[in-house]
Amino acid sequence: MDLYQPEVVNINGETFRVYLTHEEIQQRIKQMGTQLSQEFKDKKPIFIGVLNGAYIFLADLMRYVTIPCEVDFLKLSSYGDEKVSSGEVHDLKEIDADIKGRHVILVEDIIDTGLSMKYLVDKVKRKEPASLSVVTMLHKPEATQHNVQIDYTGFKIPNLFVLGYGLDFAQEGRNLAQIYLLDE
Ligand code: IMP
Ligand code: MG
Repeated sequence: MDLYQPEVVNINGETFRVYLTHEEIQQRIKQMGTQLSQEFKDKKPIFIGVLNGAYIFLADLMRYVTIPCEVDFLKLSSYGDEKVSSGEVHDLKEIDADIKGRHVILVEDIIDTGLSMKYLVDKVKRKEPASLSVVTMLHKPEATQHNVQIDYTGFKIPNLFVLGYGLDFAQEGRNLAQIYLLDE
């Protein structure tokens, strides 16, 4: 079977069209993995993925990383089933690893308003890592209101709702191999 990558997809009565193809995504992630491998050489970084959305991006990114590294996850409350942020962040799962003195790389699917990442950076810094870097697959610069640290960005995108490659709409669509834009 091929990867799940239709041109158009309908979820909950909304139509989404391909915006970034599988090849474009993989090519960019390969570049990011290569860059991280160089910059974190001899640092044995620990990647912390933000569940649920970042799981596919992180899985692909780590396979382009060619230095010793570790992985752990945390989980924050999400949008619920809406397309706009609730404006509140809650912890649903904590980091299990001891990250004090470690080189931490936080991995997000998307930075929208920046609220979640700002919350995460403050939270992780309190655990006294040796360094903290932020990687996001997507960034919506026009939507970002919070002054947030972003060290590596896969793609800057317009302020529109996107789906696929880990990102959901009402929990569906994460299994799409490409990134889709809402047809408004
Ligand atoms: P922020 O706190 O407003 O930056 O939102 C971050 C979180 O909202 C991300 O981790 C995603 O889970 C979710 N999110 C933001 N924009 C989108 C989108 O366009 N599609 C799907 N999820 C999104
Ligand atoms: Mg997320």
